[in-house]
Amino acid sequence: MMSDLYRLVYFSRNCIKGTPDQVAAGVDAILHSAWRNNASLGVTGALMFNAGIFAQVLEGRRHDVEATFERIQDDPRHSDIKILAFEQTPHRGFPAWSMAFVGRSREGEDLFGHIGDATDFRAERMQGERVFEILHRIAIEEETNAA
Ligand SMILES: Cc1cc2nc3c(=O)[nH]c(=O)nc-3n(C[C@H](O)[C@H](O)[C@H](O)COP(=O)(O)O)c2cc1C
Repeated sequence: MMSDLYRLVYFSRNCIKGTPDQVAAGVDAILHSAWRNNASLGVTGALMFNAGIFAQVLEGRRHDVEATFERIQDDPRHSDIKILAFEQTPHRGFPAWSMAFVGRSREGEDLFGHIGDATDFRAERMQGERVFEILHRIAIEEETNAA
């Protein structure tokens, strides 16, 4: 049987206004509801926040990823949501994280400098892969450093 595991990758613009501390508190609140809801559904992934842009990977059963993303899409804390990939995958990239958080990084800044540029399906797909790979590498590095 084909696995029912899906991965969705998107990016969006932050709409949380305020001082850097207020924005950080807003992102923290998002993470807390992500941890709670995703853990109960078996959804995993990573969220990056950098230079006013969110990029997120969501993985899980198709229905659970879709239901989670429907809530996320309606959230006024971000806008201009652009899906880069939604496809079946044989493995989770973030099996140990109900939502890994990746903050500012050099790689993220480089990535987000170009993130709006994809003009066709192929370019979007490649960007989706890049977002996934960068978030994956940073999450693994941070876990290794923390251990
Ligand atoms: C950038 C961004 C990422 C989010 N990621 C998740 C997520 O992974 N899981 C989730 O349940 N909610 C996520 N949310 C929050 C949802 O939009 C929504 O507020 C939440 O699921 C509502 O559930 P709650 O009432 O239990 O907090 C995210 C919101 C934003 C703006």
